[in-house]
Parts: sequence; C-alpha cells; structure tokens
Amino acid sequence: MKKIIVTIDGWSSCGKSTLARQLARELNYVYVDSGAMYRAITLYFLRNHIDWTDEREVHKALGEIHLDFHFNEKTQSSEMYLNDENVEYVIRDLVIAEKVSDVAAIREVREFAVAQQQKLGKKKGIVMDGRDIGTVVFPDAEMKIFMTADNAVRVERRFKELYEKNPNVTIEEVKNNLEMRDYIDSHREVSPLRKADDAVVLDNTKLTEDEQFKLALGWIHDRKKAGK
Ligand code: DC
Repeated sequence: MKKIIVTIDGWSSCGKSTLARQLARELNYVYVDSGAMYRAITLYFLRNHIDWTDEREVHKALGEIHLDFHFNEKTQSSEMYLNDENVEYVIRDLVIAEKVSDVAAIREVREFAVAQQQKLGKKKGIVMDGRDIGTVVFPDAEMKIFMTADNAVRVERRFKELYEKNPNVTIEEVKNNLEMRDYIDSHREVSPLRKADDAVVLDNTKLTEDEQFKLALGWIHDRKKAGK
C-alpha cells in the first residue's frame, strides 16, 4: 500500500513521541522526533555560550551544527546525534527544557530545522512529531493528529519521567516549565503551535497508551484505504 506522512503535533508532554514511535514501528515507517532537533541545537548553544539574541552569532553557530538520527537496534528507536555525538539522553534534561522554547522561536533556527525535516519526509513513510509539523513542515500530509490532555495529567506524566533520572526535581518546577513552554510555543511569531484545520484531535487524558495507539492506527488505516 502507498506510504503516507503522519504528523503528530500538540502540547508539551502529551505523549506525542510515545505514540509516534509505536505507530512508526507498527507501520514500518521512519520516526522523527523534531523536538529533539531543537533540543540538540539548544544544547550546542548552551555549551558554546552562544548569545542567541545576536543574529550573526546564531547564523555562525548553525553553520557548525550537524544533526543526524541513528537507529539504535538495542532500544529499537532512533537517537539524536549532534556533530557525531549521541545526545539523546542529555537533551532530555530540565536545563535544556528551560531554554529550548526560546531557541525554537528564532526564525533562522526554525528554517534550519524545517529544511532538514522536509528532506527526511521526501520519500514519505514517516511519522514525525512536534509543534508545526502538520501546519508548516508537511502541510499536505495525509494524516494529521493533534494531541492534547489535561494539564494536571501532563505534569504528572512528565514529573514521573524526570524524577526517574533526577530525584531532586520538584513537581512545581515541572509544572512551571510545561506552562512556560506551552505559552511560548503557542504565542511565538514564527510558526506557533496550533491545530491544523484538517487535523484530528486526540485527547488522551483518559486513555491508556494502548487505547490511544489503537485509535490512531484505526484512523491511519481508514485514511490509507480512502487513498487520501
Ligand atoms: O517535543 P519536545 O518537548 O521535545 O520539544 C522541545 C521544544 O522544541 C518545545 O518546547 C517546542 C520546540 N519544538 C518546536 O518549536 N517545533 C517542533 N516541531 C518541535 C519542537
């Protein structure tokens, strides 16, 4: 059957990557976590003390950044590489989460990331998650999903995830970070987070991972059958 593009956008910590990864595995598609690219760029900026309010510094720094995804057979998922270094783990830190929305709001950073994302989707057969995938990166995607969930549920989920890595993290910190990122991501000037008009909303507040997976997979199969 013809391969399609599946886009998954939505608020922070809605479980977009979990769903995207499961769908890609089931469909035998490539999974791309576009947020990881913005996180890796943020890591580079922080490590190299780049003043990202200075356009020339940003331009120069982007010229020194090479991003790549490599599939890890052991974990069965693709991992983010920044200039040939595996940064998949370090980019999940709260230190990165605190700055990434500011970096992702910079026009040149977005142009840099979007160009690479579009290249990755050229052959279709891809599931990509992020904030502007259905609206800007692949506006003609065959299947667009917009994910949402109650704030308290999202905070709880993200807290559990971060607490496993760092028991010093507090629920208050996680809550503030989520609210701040949602605000910046949806209010920025360049490609703000919004639902594409033709996206299907998936509210997973009361759904298990398995239920949401089956629901989304059903939508994709219907879309593929309809040949849309
Ligand atoms: O999905 P995530 O939490 O890993 O994304 C990290 C940040 O990157 C998020 O706060 C917003 C930004 N982002 C974006 O602006 N556009 C995307 N397509 C993906 C992520």
